[in-house]
Amino acid sequence: MGLELNARVAAIPIYPAAESYAYDGEIVKLASNESPWAPHPAVLETIAGRLDRLNRYPDPDKTALRKAIADRHGLAPEQIAIGNGSCELLLTAGEAMLEPGAEIVYAWPSFSIYPHLAAMTGARAIEVPLGEGGFHDLDAMAAEVTSATRIVLVCNPNNPTATALPVEAIDAFVGSLPRHVSVILDEAYVEFSTLQDPDDSIGLLAKHRNLVLLRTFSKVYGLCGLRVGYSLGPEDFRHAVDRVRQPFSVNLLALAAAEEALVHQDEVARRVERTAIERLHVQEELTARGFGVSESQANFSWVSLGDHDEDALVAALSERGVIVRAGAALGRRGFLRVTYGTRPQNDRFLAALDEATAR
Ligand SMILES: Cc1ncc(COP(=O)(O)O)c(C=O)c1O
Repeated sequence: MGLELNARVAAIPIYPAAESYAYDGEIVKLASNESPWAPHPAVLETIAGRLDRLNRYPDPDKTALRKAIADRHGLAPEQIAIGNGSCELLLTAGEAMLEPGAEIVYAWPSFSIYPHLAAMTGARAIEVPLGEGGFHDLDAMAAEVTSATRIVLVCNPNNPTATALPVEAIDAFVGSLPRHVSVILDEAYVEFSTLQDPDDSIGLLAKHRNLVLLRTFSKVYGLCGLRVGYSLGPEDFRHAVDRVRQPFSVNLLALAAAEEALVHQDEVARRVERTAIERLHVQEELTARGFGVSESQANFSWVSLGDHDEDALVAALSERGVIVRAGAALGRRGFLRVTYGTRPQNDRFLAALDEATAR
């Protein structure tokens, strides 16, 4: 069918979803930075307990969850926006703040959604190459800021390179930018970082009125299937995204589940610890096999493949039931991104890698 799209939309690349492959046994999915652990049992119970309320729309103000998040972080509920995943907040921020003639600056490679903000609004995207080791080059990014810049995106830890910068560096960077620029600090993986306590960056909000933090229930809370993310920052930001989206974009089960998940910080701490143990294991095993790995502060490794052919290697892994993400789809050929699973899953990945690279 020849649907006629507007020129802007026609130019937007379709999101490269992780492929699934024909494989008879149990698939190990390590391609999407998901949690290998099911949601907390109390969260599942909460969801089950709300099923009979599905004849009602969800709360458009998301009052209870905004209050729970605000209380946890010592902020006011007005400073919290809830999204259908943090992706919704990113895309609606673009819609609300960008237009032809405006500019958005972000590092590259970084999260694959970022190019969509400019593509869908007609703004100019300025992609600043990551520096040595896959770290954000904040000086180079600051040098790209002009009077037309509306948004600077910083992904910390960065997807796909897993690298993170200390809060002090972010603080100095935000402080160095002109006030007309909004900085969106995407902290989808911040809980996994050993460089900082997640509360450290919350402290920056009182200093920088042009800073927005983005967080999600998709990663450490293991709720990506329900789609809940949130932002912390100036009230203006919440109003901006609320102007351009439907009032009921976050569903009733998702709101209730996220509120319950927040209560179980002991479970968050346990997952962070287990992830850090797996990170050490996978990073060490990859290094021992001669692969280059970046300094991961997230729940995944960014692996330099050296002489190995990326397509052949990713295909060989998938033939063995192990699904990882090819670097080419993420902006840099010659790499792969592998999420940490449970220990047996990680060891299956390593065993499949050994088979795939055996000569
Ligand atoms: C850096 C980063 N930000 C945001 C997200 C989006 O998360 P969600 O929309 O599930 O909250 C992801 C998901 O992979 C991510 O990697």
